[in-house]
Amino acid sequence: MTTILAIPGSWRSGSYNLALARAAQALAPAGCTVELASIAAIPIYDGDSEAAQGVPAPVAGLKDRIAAADALLLVTPEYNNSVPGPLKNAIDWLSRPASDLARVFGDKPTGLIGASPGPGGTRLAQAAWLPVLRLLGTRPWFGKSVYVADAGKAFDAGGVLVDERVRQVLGAYLQGFAAFAAAR
Ligand code: FNR
Repeated sequence: MTTILAIPGSWRSGSYNLALARAAQALAPAGCTVELASIAAIPIYDGDSEAAQGVPAPVAGLKDRIAAADALLLVTPEYNNSVPGPLKNAIDWLSRPASDLARVFGDKPTGLIGASPGPGGTRLAQAAWLPVLRLLGTRPWFGKSVYVADAGKAFDAGGVLVDERVRQVLGAYLQGFAAFAAAR
C-alpha cells in the first residue's frame, strides 16, 4: 500500500483546500491511501523556543508522519500571489533542526495541488513553493497539475467536489503521483 500524506494549508470550516484534500482521499487509486495531517496545532516559529525546548510535540509528530509516508502532498491555498503563511510556517518548523532534513524530506516524492476562488487556481502559490521543495531535498513530481480555479463552483456547500472535469484531473493526478511514489 502506498501512503500519501496530504497536508492542507487551511483548516477553516469552509476551506476549499481542505475539501480538495478530502476529495483526494476519496479518489485515491487502488493500492494507495491518502491520509490527512493537520497543521492547526503548530505554533508560530520562534527561535528562542526552539533553542530552549526543541521542536514542539505537534511538529515532532508530523515530522515522523512525513518520514513514514511514501509521499507528501501539499494542498496549498494562495495568499498574495505566493505561499500561504500558515503552511510556510509549518514547513519552517518541520525543517528544524536542519540535521533532520534528510530523514524527513530527503528524496521524498512530493506533490502540489491547490484551490482558489480566483481564476489562477493557485498557480502562483505552487510556483512559489518550488524553491522551498528544492531546499528541503524533496523529489517533486511534475507529471500533472491540479489548479482548481473558481473553487466556489467546483465544490458544493458541503465541500464535496462536484465538478466532473476537476474530479477527473485530480484522479489522474493521484494515479500518476501514486505510481511515482511506489516506484521510488
Ligand atoms: C487570499 N486569496 C487569494 N486567492 C488567490 O487566488 N490569489 C491570491 O493572491 C490571494 N491572496 C489572498 C491573501 C489572503 C491574505 C487571503 C486570506 C486570501 C483568496 C484565497 O484563495 C481564498 O481565501 C481561499 O478560499 C483560501 O483557501 P481556503 O481557506 O479556502 O482553503
